[in-house]
Amino acid sequence: MNESACRLALGQCFDGLRDTDVPTGVSLYRGKVRDVLSKGTKAVLVASDRISAFDRVLSTVPYKGEVLTRISSWWFRNTEDIIPNHLVPLSLGDASQRTGRAVAAKRCDMVNAEVVVRGYLTGSAWRDYQAGRPVSGIVLPSGLRYCQQFPQPILTPSTKEAEGHDTPASGQELVASGVVSADLWQEIERASIALYKRGQQLMAQRGLILVDTKYEFGIADGRLVIADEIHTPDSSRYWYADGYAERFASGDHQKELDKETFRRWLVDRGFSGDGDAPAIDDDVRCQTALRYMEAFKAITGNDFEPVHGTAHAARVAVASLLAEVFGG
Ligand SMILES: Nc1ncnc2c1ncn2[C@@H]1O[C@H](COP(=O)(O)OP(=O)(O)OP(=O)(O)O)[C@@H](O)[C@H]1O
Ligand SMILES: [Mg+2]
Repeated sequence: MNESACRLALGQCFDGLRDTDVPTGVSLYRGKVRDVLSKGTKAVLVASDRISAFDRVLSTVPYKGEVLTRISSWWFRNTEDIIPNHLVPLSLGDASQRTGRAVAAKRCDMVNAEVVVRGYLTGSAWRDYQAGRPVSGIVLPSGLRYCQQFPQPILTPSTKEAEGHDTPASGQELVASGVVSADLWQEIERASIALYKRGQQLMAQRGLILVDTKYEFGIADGRLVIADEIHTPDSSRYWYADGYAERFASGDHQKELDKETFRRWLVDRGFSGDGDAPAIDDDVRCQTALRYMEAFKAITGNDFEPVHGTAHAARVAVASLLAEVFGG
């Protein structure tokens, strides 16, 4: 999709479900990006085009929800031998292929932690390291440099707070405070490292580096499953592998494939989460959309073409999925 098509699509953003879209007897939870409907053991996750930064929803970006859902589905397919995921196949095929942005899932009891896996010293881990602080309880060896690869990936979890920012907590702390049992944490740790390594392997073939990523797990049918989203540009940081070594040697920033573009645009305008956000103009919405589509192509190898070009068509497809899953 080119820039002019993207401009036309600005008016077709899917900003989320309306209350009237929710079938009776089904409950709705609005996350920052996804609307989650559930009833009994069933759930449907609908990814909107809302974009958040610094934990605040700030605007919409054409097709972002579709890009995220389809990237996640791609990764769930490519990791299901490691750990079962929350997706439920439907009689009429893969829900994300029909609606673009919605999936049928098992409703999980979510583990109240965000499990971040890092392979490189960057982002908040680099800021902690530079300030001499341990990174989520892990004391790293001295002498590491900006964007250096760790000998082994590390886990830097945090608790998932209902309000505001998440708080870093080591695995031991999560176990001690009763968020997870020791056995479950061991299972989560093993799965997270294996998922991340698979991500690195598959992306190496695409000329990308999966730098760090966040997983959310849940329990369904008494088993640990990976839920929510996986290896999307919202939950992960990717770099282009080409030129990594040169940039690392000279201490430069790496070339990124993710929503840092949007965050940086905000930071350049003096916004980093507090006070009024600047008005998000159409230009940056368009540029951001094109970045998401570029990410889709870079990760999956396929050009991005929306399943539904208009918000109305997407709504109709989602409504039919809801009727199929929840009846009515
Ligand atoms: N299979 C599932 N069953 C139940 N809940 C799920 C499942 N998959 C994801 N979730 C939850 O659905 C929500 C998805 O919404 P979204 O990602 O937009 O939320 P968020 O803004 O990141 O987080 P928050 O929960 O803080 O609003 C998350 O709270 C996530 O934990
Ligand atoms: Mg989320």
